[in-house]
Amino acid sequence: MSSGLVTWSFPTTIVFGADSVSTVADRVRGLGATRALVVCDAGVVRVGIAERVRALLEAGGVAARVFDGVDPNPVEANVLQGVVAYREHGAGCVVAVGGGSPLDAGKLIALKVTHDRPLADYDDAVDGGALIGPNVPPVVTIPTTAGTGSEVGRSGVVTLAATGRKTVIFSPHLLARVALLDPALTRSMPARITAATGFDALTHCLEAFCSLGDHPMADAIALGGLELCAAHLARAVDHGADLEARGAMMKAAMMGAVAFQKGLGACHSLAHPLSSEKGLHHGLANALCLPAVVDFNEPAARDKLERVRLILDRTARTCAEAVRTLRKRVGLPEGLSAEGVTDADVPKLTRKAIEDACHRSNPRPVTYDDLAALYRASF
Ligand SMILES: [Fe+2]
Repeated sequence: MSSGLVTWSFPTTIVFGADSVSTVADRVRGLGATRALVVCDAGVVRVGIAERVRALLEAGGVAARVFDGVDPNPVEANVLQGVVAYREHGAGCVVAVGGGSPLDAGKLIALKVTHDRPLADYDDAVDGGALIGPNVPPVVTIPTTAGTGSEVGRSGVVTLAATGRKTVIFSPHLLARVALLDPALTRSMPARITAATGFDALTHCLEAFCSLGDHPMADAIALGGLELCAAHLARAVDHGADLEARGAMMKAAMMGAVAFQKGLGACHSLAHPLSSEKGLHHGLANALCLPAVVDFNEPAARDKLERVRLILDRTARTCAEAVRTLRKRVGLPEGLSAEGVTDADVPKLTRKAIEDACHRSNPRPVTYDDLAALYRASF
């Protein structure tokens, strides 16, 4: 970012459509690999998708092994165990399948196959991405939720053993080479997970659009993603089998993650400790904090937030009100207290939130006291 230059890139090949998952073996072989590690979690195994992907790979001439040891909020040990499995299998490619956690873990497993330093050294908060080279093995991503957009994102989030903090690792070399977006894989997602993951996508679009920095393509994509969320999130929650709504939310999630290469904001800094400390679902944590952050950002991003209000809900008086209305419409709780977060949690949460890198691109600078106040405003 020195000398006033900015970099804009959207290089992942994205294959969209029902049954796109059945092209997985061709895609892996197209990347020059004949052995793949399928990275997923217990939930992906339980619904049969891990076995389906493994069988599709084998039928297409790719020797596949399933590694399902990824926690709901991935920890460092998951990544290191995945590297062992990758080496034992002699894999040449990672096929990451699932929600954000397996996709992030899959990318970080690929990173660690060729990068020997401890994961903490690659922390975006210490500009560790500069240590990441292009020799990361290829990754194919197959999302089974519509939210994180990790399938096209260039970051992985992992809780480190030494600090207990959710840590963002960020590099263009972590981008998947191919993402297979198959709306049919999201059809069985329960309504509450659909709502929470959808709110993660919405938060990515909103925070990216309002974030500091000059990125007209990211801005346009963020607005397009918000339009898809406004039109399809409630429909996907109400009618889980509606593949058009499911597909639209997959597009919105993908677009949110493309857009947030520009940057995110304070809401994500508040959300990360809520997951690592209190176990909240990431999308739900964003949904609960977003209105307070939007209100806080109004003085610094008034015109942009007005555009977001017009997309989400023309009848709302403020953008925060539009967000609250949609959150209620999709059946999510209205505050952190409903999730067992109390005032006593605020100091520890805030200490972690201020260390998180996301708020650096928030349109209005935040202090420790601001973040603590934002948590309290979200009760
Ligand atoms: Fe997120």
